[in-house]
Amino acid sequence: MKVYVASEKEIAKMAAQRYVQLINTKPNAIIGGATGSTPIPLYKELAKQCKAGNVSFKNVKSFNLDEYVGLDGNHNQSYRYFMNKQLFNHIDIDINNTFVPSGIDTKNPSRYDDMIKAAGGVDLQLLGIGVDGHIGFNEPGTKFDSLTHVVKLEQNTREVNSRFFKSINDVPTHAVTMGIKTVMNARSIILIATGKNKAKIVKEFIEGPVTTKCPASILQLHPFVEVYLDEEAASLLKK
Ligand code: F6R
Repeated sequence: MKVYVASEKEIAKMAAQRYVQLINTKPNAIIGGATGSTPIPLYKELAKQCKAGNVSFKNVKSFNLDEYVGLDGNHNQSYRYFMNKQLFNHIDIDINNTFVPSGIDTKNPSRYDDMIKAAGGVDLQLLGIGVDGHIGFNEPGTKFDSLTHVVKLEQNTREVNSRFFKSINDVPTHAVTMGIKTVMNARSIILIATGKNKAKIVKEFIEGPVTTKCPASILQLHPFVEVYLDEEAASLLKK
């Protein structure tokens, strides 16, 4: 695992360079997307790089990590809506090549793994991290061999995410998420964490034991993970 520490702006640029390098070497690369506040500076940077002609997403496919159960893509808090607004509408990707798990048809969620496999597997998976160590919506206790599945969201996760909704009661109780195995199947992974509130969990997942109590700790066992942190998120790490 390689760890880079710089300002929030700088890490967005550094992470964007990884995409530029990957896609310029493999124009039909498969990327894995994340939502939340953390990736927004990276997505802005990717849009900038695309507009400047430094990278083209024309032949790229994208598979997102997760979606709220019960929200369709037109709902302004759905992750499909978020991805269109924050990234897909600003780059030259074919929208038909962008995939987000369905929050409506959740009957056979591991079909999503079959789709990813059929497409050739994810080359570069982007992750954020929850304050409880979740990746995607894989909450503490999730089995490391899990594939895409429906989860009940922890109360704490719903509270944290209620900042995007009118009230906590509007936050869905369930989500569909790539499993931990789905994430670990990606050929390379970038995890970004920013802000003081992530410092404790960042220390735990990088320096602590590999345990299902901290789902992100499994990343220690992946052969190609890059972690991008701002100074605040990195502040509790051993130098
Ligand atoms: C989002 C996702 C989540 C977030 C995590 C951090 O698709 O999978 O694991 O990455 O909850 O969210 P932010 O970036 O809002 O702190």
